[in-house]
Amino acid sequence: PVASPTVTVLPKAELHLHIEGTLEPEMVFELARRNDVALPYRDIDDLRARYRFADLQSFLDIYYANMAVLRTTRDFHDLAAAYLRRCPEQGVRHAEIFFDPQAHLARGVPMSAVVEGLSGAIGEFPEVSAKLILCFLRDQSADSAEETLRRAEPHLDDIVGVGLDSAEIGHPPSKFATVFAAARKLGLEPVAHAGEEGPPAYVREALDVLGVRRVDHGIRAMEDPDLVARLRRERVPLTVCPLSNVRLGCVPDIAHHPLPAMLAEGLNVSVHSDDPAYFGGYVTANLAALRLSEDQLRLLAANSFESSFVTAQARERYL
Ligand code: HPA
Ligand code: ZN
Repeated sequence: PVASPTVTVLPKAELHLHIEGTLEPEMVFELARRNDVALPYRDIDDLRARYRFADLQSFLDIYYANMAVLRTTRDFHDLAAAYLRRCPEQGVRHAEIFFDPQAHLARGVPMSAVVEGLSGAIGEFPEVSAKLILCFLRDQSADSAEETLRRAEPHLDDIVGVGLDSAEIGHPPSKFATVFAAARKLGLEPVAHAGEEGPPAYVREALDVLGVRRVDHGIRAMEDPDLVARLRRERVPLTVCPLSNVRLGCVPDIAHHPLPAMLAEGLNVSVHSDDPAYFGGYVTANLAALRLSEDQLRLLAANSFESSFVTAQARERYL
């Protein structure tokens, strides 16, 4: 569908975007050349042809493989700058951006290269206020998450929150109770992916054990009427990514996406792009795909700011 003027022009906050998921195939090849990294793909078309995913894990395999081209401060800078350059055309005025340091530390990239590269780019785009959220990889150990938080401590001026991502099933939020408590103590805002592939019980755990301020995805909460009632009552923000859910087989097709039903239930949902280089588009493409009314689009945009870590007082500046 063609994006209506309302979709593109409405000011929005992007709250569910993995910066590594904005690594477009063209940049994979450009950085591979710059860093002398051998790629197992013939060309850009060959790489793009592999973006057909059966589930979350099959996406994660290629998402982590492509990160091999990210080596230096400059690479992380260029990745974030390429994303931030697109924000005006998407109506994105504010972005709370996930990054996955464990995936980079594992290749010997220092935390400072990752954070300084990303925040350096953020400083160059005053037209979008952007913040970083450090994500722990839930398919790695709780000890590894704790070590990652320690390594991030010198950089906390550049980081607003902590998140939880990667393979969900078998890795419940409760596994990370200790590191989230430590992060909250440091003044970091807690969020977590839950209820993407995992059950509604993981959404409850994210709220009750991790104390999260937002739930990322949360679509499977719709299977549990008591949980839906609680999410409505507590106005828990849910950051929903329709194209991701379709591409990863979490919902059968866009016509069956639960976002309209979530709105009808009175939930505090907003729409975001997750890994736009892999799933077919940035935030306006996600909104356009749903074929919503103008009123629904306005509500989603308002929710995106309400659910952000921008204070109520400062929000007016974006509208
Ligand atoms: N789910 C979980 N982890 C992720 C995702 C996702 O959609 N994208 C990047 N890491
Ligand atoms: Zn995500």
